[in-house]
Amino acid sequence: MTAGPRVLRRRLLLVLFFLSVLGVFLAPLPVATAAEADDTATAMRLADLLRSARTVVSRNQDLINDPAVGDKGLSGEKVLEDALALHQERTGEDPRDSDPQSREGRLLRAQMQSIVEVMSEHQATINAKDVGFKGFIPAVFARLVNERFADKVGEEARVKVTAPERLVRNRKARPDQWEISVIEDEFAQADWPKGEPFSEVTEENGNEAFRILVPEYYTASCLSCHGEPAGEVDITGYPKEGGQEGDLGAAISITLFK
Ligand code: HEC
Repeated sequence: MTAGPRVLRRRLLLVLFFLSVLGVFLAPLPVATAAEADDTATAMRLADLLRSARTVVSRNQDLINDPAVGDKGLSGEKVLEDALALHQERTGEDPRDSDPQSREGRLLRAQMQSIVEVMSEHQATINAKDVGFKGFIPAVFARLVNERFADKVGEEARVKVTAPERLVRNRKARPDQWEISVIEDEFAQADWPKGEPFSEVTEENGNEAFRILVPEYYTASCLSCHGEPAGEVDITGYPKEGGQEGDLGAAISITLFK
């Protein structure tokens, strides 16, 4: 038996109906994807600039720790300038070129200003003579920059450096539930591509938020504090975590609130 014309027509209508229903769901997709691509780009620029500034502090660590030198020449403006140069080298971009009226332009400027302020406010510590280790290290610097950034941008965005829960030193850096699940369910998987960020549109206090977590791994330079032997107290007074080169040791967490 073959289907009569009426049945065929009904089938055709059914197919058309389903296609139109599908269309309703599919139509907004490209728009959402474009917004997410924008969010990803903005968040990664914030992460990259923070990393560049942290690297500048790291490259000057011996100088900062030198008890024989007073003025280290590491003003806020100098550190920002070096961070921007490094950022440009790494990404080809200059955050000062961003549109100051755009969300991205505002956020990047707030971050640049935070870098300058944190450095300026720690000149006395950094320039103290006859003091070796001053506790001014990249992780502390980054945390202070992120805290200042939060003061400036309020409910618009958040930048945080966190780590796998068992490695966390400062309570303020503890991962929240979303960060824990990304670290454990994604980054900890053997097949997770090294360095690949994870992003998701989630809900934060009832509002939509774009979140992205960027994994970072211990390098040899981290291990004097975070390496072996586990439990031995490092120069900063914390027990070492027993980490190995290449271990997941950190994650930059960025939230853009809608
Ligand atoms: C001189 C010792 C030292 C070195 C070297 C060091 N850290 Fe840390 N790290 C610390 C201290 C101290 C803290 C706590 C900072 C604070 O009070 O916020 C910290 C905090 C962190 C945090 C924030 C989460 C937390 O535990 O509070 C991460 C992530 C981190 N370190 C990763 C790294 C990585 C990755 C490297 C190498 C690139 C590194 N650290 C090098 C001492 C060090």
